[in-house]
Amino acid sequence: MHYFDLKDGVLHAEGVSLETLAAEVGTPTYVYSSATLRRHYGLLRDACDAHKAALGDALIAFAVKANSNLSVLATLAKLDCGADTVSEGEIRRALAAGVPGERIIFSGVGKTDAELAFAIDVGVRQINVESSAELERLILIAAEKSASPAIAIRVNPKIGAGGHAKITTGGAGDKFGVPVEEALSLYARASASPHVTPVGLACHIGSQITDLTPLENAFRVLRDMTETLRAQGHSVTRLDLGGGLGVPYYGEAETASPADYVAMAARVLDGLGVEAAFEPGRLMAANAGVLLSRVIQVNERTDGRRFLVLDAAMNDLMRPALYDAFHDLKPVRPRTGEDRPYDVVGPVCETGDTFARDRDLPPLEAGDLVVFMSAGAYGAVMSGEYNTRPLAAEVLVDGERCAVIRPRPTYEQMFAREPMADWLAPVASDK
Ligand code: LLP
Repeated sequence: MHYFDLKDGVLHAEGVSLETLAAEVGTPTYVYSSATLRRHYGLLRDACDAHKAALGDALIAFAVKANSNLSVLATLAKLDCGADTVSEGEIRRALAAGVPGERIIFSGVGKTDAELAFAIDVGVRQINVESSAELERLILIAAEKSASPAIAIRVNPKIGAGGHAKITTGGAGDKFGVPVEEALSLYARASASPHVTPVGLACHIGSQITDLTPLENAFRVLRDMTETLRAQGHSVTRLDLGGGLGVPYYGEAETASPADYVAMAARVLDGLGVEAAFEPGRLMAANAGVLLSRVIQVNERTDGRRFLVLDAAMNDLMRPALYDAFHDLKPVRPRTGEDRPYDVVGPVCETGDTFARDRDLPPLEAGDLVVFMSAGAYGAVMSGEYNTRPLAAEVLVDGERCAVIRPRPTYEQMFAREPMADWLAPVASDK
């Protein structure tokens, strides 16, 4: 469910015409809908609140990696949403956007000493420890500060799931977390140290998971482990269930609903008396954003192939190139005429810069505006400047209001980030 709809024959983000917006801000531009973000948070919040008995005061910690724009984070922070972070930069973003430390979870397979020290200093809610090596480093760092941060041990339940092999994180061979037996012994090790306070377990098995079964199996592993640890005399008060629930990229009911997902978690954790945390990224942000782009030209080749060449490219939206991901493409002003197959491509000099092959679309022409739907998660955050293409702008809409929340950089700004080595002659002119 989202708030990108046709009004008077033009696609709008809430109350703002995407045609007007393209004229003012240019393309390619990511456009986010505040109402959609709020709605997604609200759905999860209501589901959690309906299951307080089983999930406690559940924390919904938005996975900042999915969309880390400060205004997007601030929109969620105002709803008391927490943040799941994986770097010092993401912690800083969450804090800057108004998420208090006590609602920030710090996850990640390779946190540096500096990052661990920073997380302790700003008082994050919990550090999810992913290995024995990390636990030993954290104990030393915390000891130096006479601190004892709350930690959870991330379990690798040997249950991988997700929309693509590259985004599966809970499989036995995946780099994340430690196996069950090792997690139990790390918990005991942590309990024996005065410099960390183990409070629970964490697990995240993958992304774009559309069927609840693997998630349920993973949550059962956490439940069994909680009982085992308690039987050994340890205190376990929190379970971090990760993120991973998929979204309907194809526009159908292709994935389990957030309400069913939370209800399933409540069923599995019922009677355990723990406080749950969820780390949704895609679920919150994907359908809250589109990538607005303009058709540069249509290349009709004599061999019969028809290429729709857009001003957006793989550097702006990497998901199709990286994961063969599907993003629905819609004209901003619906065109009449019979659909025909297009290869949808960007201007980057790689064949990988292909958004779709043989996509059936109505007749489109140079200058037409189109949007990639469901681009609010893992879109702008994964973009780069390959081919010296300026980063796409980002815009946030809220009702009739809209604001540029990341301006497109100028070439001068881009070059200013690259001071010339002092032994090289200055460039005569950058014109
Ligand atoms: N928690 C942890 C520890 C994670 O590693 C992730 C995502 C999440 C939560 C949020 O997962 P979500 O609810 O968004 O599925 N770039 C890929 C997705 C990578 C996901 C990585 N981890 C894509 O574009 O599909």
